[in-house]
Formats: sequence, structure tokens, C-alpha cells
Amino acid sequence: MKKHVKNNVYWVGKIDWELESFHGADYSINHGSSQNAYLITEEKTVLVDTVWRPHSSEFINNLASEIDLNKIDFIVMNHGEIDHSGSLPALMEKIPNTPIYCTANAVKSLVGQYHHPEWNYKIVKTGDSVDIGNGKKLVFVEMRMLHWPDSMATYMTGDNILFSNDAFGQHYAVEELFNDKADTCLLWAEALKYYSNILNPFSPLVKKKVEEILALNLTIDIIAPSHGAIWRDNPIQIVEKYYEWSKDYQEDQITIAYDTMWEGTMQLAHKIGKEISSISPGTKVKIFNISKTNKNDIMTEVFKSKAIAVGSPTVGQNILSSVGGWLDFLKELKFKNKKAAVFGCYGWSGESTKVLRERLSDAGFEVVDPEFRCNWNPVEEDYRKATEIANALCK
Ligand code: FEO
Repeated sequence: MKKHVKNNVYWVGKIDWELESFHGADYSINHGSSQNAYLITEEKTVLVDTVWRPHSSEFINNLASEIDLNKIDFIVMNHGEIDHSGSLPALMEKIPNTPIYCTANAVKSLVGQYHHPEWNYKIVKTGDSVDIGNGKKLVFVEMRMLHWPDSMATYMTGDNILFSNDAFGQHYAVEELFNDKADTCLLWAEALKYYSNILNPFSPLVKKKVEEILALNLTIDIIAPSHGAIWRDNPIQIVEKYYEWSKDYQEDQITIAYDTMWEGTMQLAHKIGKEISSISPGTKVKIFNISKTNKNDIMTEVFKSKAIAVGSPTVGQNILSSVGGWLDFLKELKFKNKKAAVFGCYGWSGESTKVLRERLSDAGFEVVDPEFRCNWNPVEEDYRKATEIANALCK
């Protein structure tokens, strides 16, 4: 069933309340999500994006109940990732010669995934436009690396709608579609999680692209992303927030993440937390067991932090595999301008803090001294190091 967005623009996507993860199991979904596709019925009939493959039958049946599929003049594919292009093969079986407007890189991703080089691709780049009648145009803006090389946004003149695809989205189900109908706290929490876990590696490009969009002085009445709520109440607020987030964003927060075998390293984590609170009562402290809290939710807290402390006991002359995997993901997200401290208990050889130091330096963190390395379980004397680490992180 279509939902009205503005004038002759309708939402025809999929709101998925049951989704539990995304990108395989790499991104946790806590409050549902959506794949937003849009139908424009001006003199030209245009479909902007599709939905993920498991929902393709539902999507095409719904679309066919709203319009004669043969009336679709063209399709805009803002991005080739399968959550937006997954219904394209089934749709193209029904309307095989329909032009598909997309970037040159999107042709590569679509052909690579679906093996249909014969589809009627119309390659566009920034500034290209297409007339849709009634005095309105679609203007294309490449959004390279936000978050794929093929990403693009489409601006509809007249109605002043920016179809931004992944940028400005959230994995958050809003049945009523719009940001003014959403739970504000959840909306911002999910937008922040999305930025931290998907867009942060590309922050320098986000900054540049936002500057470019703002410099165009476009009137933007609606930002219609491909996931989550549509921004119709003060849509520029999410653009301004992206700009703020893109500039090595941090709050007065320190996040402590650890895993533990026999609770020694856990005790060190909590002692560091207490010392930080004592030295700097205004600093927000968050403490997570890496094995018990979802990695995406911890990374959102890392994004907000000015510093982190990471702990692991020594096992097999190394760190726990849970912490090792977590550090791989931390490196992927390319955080900048953050300090880190390392800690861990050991029984025999005690390499964990050295390994943590190397891994965190490699992930772009400034690792402070001293290391909080504790033989067996900590005693009062060991805790002096917690004060030193807290001081170094708060400085
Ligand atoms: Fe990059 Fe929502 O797909």
C-alpha cells in the first residue's frame, strides 16, 4: 500500500518490524527498519529505488496494485546495494526495457550482482537532470563513498525533495513515515548509531559533501532517505547534525570496553571507571563487557567518547578472541582524535596489554601510559595504576 509523501510523491517501500540484523549479522537492529522506495506520478512516472530481495514479491504486487507497471517511464537507482536493488531483477522481468538512471559505478555493482548488462542503463553524474513534466525535474548528485562508490542522491525540483538514499537514514521502523511522528529519542539514537557504524569511516567525505549541498542553497522541504523516518519537520537539522558528526565529534565521555575470563580484568575496568568519575565528575563513564553488549551499540558510545580504555586478560600469549574481533571492527570505523588506555590481568606470560597497545595504535588511537597490567587478581596496590590511567585519559 502506498503512503502519501507530498503532492504526487508516494512511499512504496517496506517497513520491516521483524528485522533483527543487517549487513548479514554485522549491524544489530533494535527497533525495526525500513527500505524506502518512492513513486513519483508527475507527467512521467518514476520509481526511486526498490526494496530488499526477500520482499520483492510483496513490493511488486503492491506496486502493481497502485499503477500499471508498464506506465513506469524510468527507474532511479540511487545505490546498487541489495537492500535497495534487490527487487530489480524481478521487476525488470516485467518491464525489461525500462531505463534505469544511476551512476557509472552503480552499473558496475548492478551488473556484478545480477548479471544483466543488457538492462537499459542511463549513466548520470552530478548536475545531470531529467524532466518529469509539470515543470519539475530530477537533478542527480553523486554521493561517492556515502557509503559506497556508487551512491547518489536525487533532488526533485518543485516539491523540493531530496531522495538521499542511505545518507541521513536510520535503521528504525516508523509506520507513520515522518520524523515528526517518530519517537524523538529513538530517532536520534538510531541516526547516531547509523552514522557511527556506517558513515564514520567516510567522515571527511561527509563533511565535504554536506558543504557542497549547503553551498547549492537548495530549498529542501523534505529529505527522504532509504531507511527509517522521512525528515519533513526541519529537514536541515539532520544535515547540520551530519556536519557536526563529521568533524571528529566527541563529547565529555570515556568508554571502557573489556572482556574477562575470571573477573579480574572486569575488576580493573570498574576501578578505572570509578577513578575517572572521581577525578572528573563531569565526564560520562560507560563500561561494557564486549561479550555481553552488541558491538554496534558499544561503537556508538566510542563515537561519542573523547577516550576509551580496552581490557583483556592474556590467553595463549594474546588477547581474548572476542576482544580481537571487536578491535578489527574498531579499526574499520577509522575513529580519529581519541585517546586509549589498555589493561588486563594475567597469570603467566602477560602479553595482553602489549597486544592491545599495538592494535589500538594501528586503529588510529593515541595510546597513553601506563599500561594497567595485573598479575593474577588485583590487590589495593595494583589500583594505583587505575588512577594514573584515569588521569592520562582525562587530561
Ligand atoms: Fe548501502 Fe541501505 O544500502
